Amino acid sequence: MPVRNAATRPRVGPVPWLCLVALAAAGCSPERYPQTALLPLSEFARIGDYVQDQTFYWALGVFVLVEGALLYAIFRFRGRPDDPEPKQIHGNTTVEIIWTVIPALILAAIAVPTVRGIFETAAIPRGDLLEIEVVGHQWWWEFRYPEYGIVTANELVIPVGRTVHLRQNSADVIHSFWPPRFAGKRDVFPGRETRLWFAADSTGLYPGQCTEFCGIQHARMAFHVLSQTPEEFKRWVARMQALGAPPAAPGPAAAPGGDSLRTASVGARLQGQQAAADPQVAQGEQLFRNKGCMGCHSLQAKGAPTALIGPNLANVGERAYIAAGWLKNTDENLEAWIRNPQALKKGVLMPNLGVTPDEAKALRAYLRAHK
Ligand code: CUA
Repeated sequence: MPVRNAATRPRVGPVPWLCLVALAAAGCSPERYPQTALLPLSEFARIGDYVQDQTFYWALGVFVLVEGALLYAIFRFRGRPDDPEPKQIHGNTTVEIIWTVIPALILAAIAVPTVRGIFETAAIPRGDLLEIEVVGHQWWWEFRYPEYGIVTANELVIPVGRTVHLRQNSADVIHSFWPPRFAGKRDVFPGRETRLWFAADSTGLYPGQCTEFCGIQHARMAFHVLSQTPEEFKRWVARMQALGAPPAAPGPAAAPGGDSLRTASVGARLQGQQAAADPQVAQGEQLFRNKGCMGCHSLQAKGAPTALIGPNLANVGERAYIAAGWLKNTDENLEAWIRNPQALKKGVLMPNLGVTPDEAKALRAYLRAHK
């Protein structure tokens, strides 16, 4: 029978170890994996990060002490062939009291910052808050800015330094809103408002994610937080307001949010000159109307109808992502999405409308003009 010893045992080559190191290093890369709560960019996120750090350091200390004691005992008191039977004992009150009291003290030490953090993050701060209504939909996010009368989708645009106060609701099932660099998770319910606040302290585009299972495309219910300087944000608001003041409806006045708003060709009005100059954009506008896109999507940021099924597309031409934060907003992806959304995100409410490649190009050109 072959004997396995150090000489015959198959040696583990360097490859698995290198893979392990690469994996660990990859986990530390905020560029490639930016959806992390370990690199906080707001006071709210720092509170959570502090609790996590405290818990980790306590756990690390316990791990080192317990594993150290275990290894010491294994080697120091290892049984040898001629050892006598060890002394048999049953319980030791002193030791049991010690190992009950120490964990209780450690848990108390962790509880103090945890409970303090819960109260700090639950209290809505006072001052100059920017209120934003967040509405979860299967499977995308709607953001309404009552202060400016505008609405957008999937890209939460905020000014750096100003506290945003998110008032959250769901249009269908339970979702959970999580912008990890800025704040913890908050569940989003139909018929019950939950709130979240944070003030970003740096600019940039940061990913977020729905973190409550909400249907088959839950994993693709992402979003981005676009944090801008106050000046950039002001310009963005002004642009969004211009992108959708409803046109004076011809004929009898319609109720706000009525069909006259939907059928009004806001995009073409705004991009009139471009449409005239670019036949592809003009064709796209026709298609947008004839293919029924308007039944679900509004191209107005200001005064947009509230009951639409699909995301607001007023500034879709400038967004970094489409399809709720997971497809880069390239011409190729936008056309592919328009042609066959069910292939890219099966189960999404947007149906395949039998759009030809040329029609998809025209629709893409028309949407791209909206920014
Ligand atoms: Cu919405 Cu998961």
